[in-house]
Parts: sequence; structure tokens; C-alpha cells
Amino acid sequence: MAFRAAVRRALRVAPFLVVLLVLAACARDYPQSTLHPRSDFTRMIDGVFMNTVWWALAVFILVEGALVWTIFRFRGRPDDPEPRQVHGNTTIEIIWTAIPALILAMISVPTVRAIFKTYDEPNGAQVVRVNVTGHQWWWEFNYPQYGVTSANELHVPVGKTIFLEMNSFDVIHSFWMPQLGAKRDVFPNRKTTLWFRADSTGFYPGQCAEFCGTQHGRMAFHVDVQSPEEFDAYIKGLQATGAIATADTVAGSKLFAAKGCVGCHSLNAVKFSKGLLGPNLANVGARHYIAAGTLLNTDENLAHWIQHPSSVKHGVLMPELGLSAADAQTLAAYLRTHTGK
Ligand code: CUA
Repeated sequence: MAFRAAVRRALRVAPFLVVLLVLAACARDYPQSTLHPRSDFTRMIDGVFMNTVWWALAVFILVEGALVWTIFRFRGRPDDPEPRQVHGNTTIEIIWTAIPALILAMISVPTVRAIFKTYDEPNGAQVVRVNVTGHQWWWEFNYPQYGVTSANELHVPVGKTIFLEMNSFDVIHSFWMPQLGAKRDVFPNRKTTLWFRADSTGFYPGQCAEFCGTQHGRMAFHVDVQSPEEFDAYIKGLQATGAIATADTVAGSKLFAAKGCVGCHSLNAVKFSKGLLGPNLANVGARHYIAAGTLLNTDENLAHWIQHPSSVKHGVLMPELGLSAADAQTLAAYLRTHTGK
């Protein structure tokens, strides 16, 4: 009786569990999903994944099917005689060794081939090279071919191979673009690489994927995959910031110098001294996010971030400068004019 009650109770809960399971897969979009590849690199990895899934599914159906069939076909009956006792069967043992070995080969050969392919170092005039540097807690993107540097938003042209040469300024980070270029650790004093060719324009999220301190979770970035024309305009805009007037006399510019912002940040994407601690801000006014993907780039958020950085990201290197709200707003308005356009 107790067993029946338990079954009845389980049946009553079952529909809720099913609904929960279905809802768990519900989302309007899948920004961090690796199951929606948008580059040749991630399509290759998706191919390896799906190959493994189909083989695993085939194994599951065949093995479980054979098991269920055997249970019913050879089930015992009360008046059955003692079954014939056997020990070992060389033919069957060879078969059940050979088949899994063959299946493993069907999975491992394409997998190993793909792993080697991910370490390719594409070359040629068409390849867009980007030096990626991980910092606690933001990303620097330097384009050696164009002589410009930016931060936290990686702009790339669609349909062209991008070659990333990466290292870290401080601790180990991991550069992860789920839809475009998978994931690769980033080390101090050691170069790692990644390549991809995006096949659809769009704005894709990325994230540091190696615990790197308290704000590891707020070390995001975005990849803006643009048409070649848009990308050219983007680069030209950044290059134009190289001619920016440094002796600007507007209030924001004075504050930027007087409060020491200039010690860590450059508003010039071209003349960039490697020792700078903070992100290059040459086009910060036009970025979608600030504080490495943490805040939407609104005037209010920008002023708040400048005035109270620690309240947004505890442990951030940017100090609390004791700015008044008015000063923070003036600085935000000044930075807003730096769009790199
Ligand atoms: Cu950088 Cu986690």
C-alpha cells in the first residue's frame, strides 16, 4: 500500500517537473550559448560536438534497446528449467571490443583534427590582426596594422579572418567568445592565439572565463561584427583621434587632467603608451557598455561610475577621487563627446 501511495504522489508531482524541465530551456535569446555558432571556428567545434552527440545517441538506443529486448525475451518463468551455464565467448568479446574502438575512432579523429586546426596561425594581407591584453578587469584591443588601440569592444569585419595574439597584463584570464571563437586562456609573459571568421554581422557578448579576482564576473566584452565599410569607418575614426587637441580648455578636459584621469587613460587611440593602467577611452562616448560590459553606457551610469567606481566594481584600480556630482557629470559629458567618429 505504501508503495502505491508513493507512486500516486510521484505521478502528481511529475507534470510540474516536466514543466520545470521545459522552462529551463526557455529564453528569448541565447547570448552566451555555444550552440549558435556564428563563425567558421565555432561551426567546426559545433561539428565535433554534434558528431559526438549522434554517436552517443546511437550507442544509447542500441545498448538500451538490446537491454530492454533481452529483459523481455529471456525473462524467467516459474517453471523454467535451470538455464545452460556458459563461460566466455571469444567471438562476442571481439565484437564488443571492436565496435567501441571503431566508434571512438569516429569521434577522436575529427576531434583531434579540429584541436590542431584551432592552433592555426593564419597569415596574409587579408588577415586582420588584433593584440588582446587581459587586465584586471577589462580587455585591451590593439590593431597593429592600423596603429590603434581600444578597449572592451572588439570591432571586426564580417567574412574576414581575424587573428588574435593574446596575453595578460597581470593574472591568468580566459578570452571567451561563445558564438565566434570559443575560449582560450590568456597568460602573463606568454602568447596564446585564437582565430575566427565571423559569418554574420551583429553584436556578440564575450566574457572572461578564468577566475581572476573579485570582479572576474564583471570582466565582459562585446564583439561588434560589422560590414567591411563600417569597420573601415570605425578604424578611420579611431585613427583620427590621433590628431586630437591636447591643450583643450573646456571644463571637462581640465578636470580630466587635474583629477589625474589622464594618468591611466588615453583619449588618443593612436598615441598609446603601453604603460597605461586603464582602458583607452578614445571612443568611449560611442561604446555600448562601460566598466567592461558591466553598465549600459548612459550619461547617468557613466557619471556614477566615474564618481563611485568601487560601488560598481569593488576592488577596481580606478580610485575614488572624491569628485562632486557636478564634476562627475562634467567629466561624463566630456567623455561623451569622444566617439571616435
Ligand atoms: Cu579575467 Cu576572469
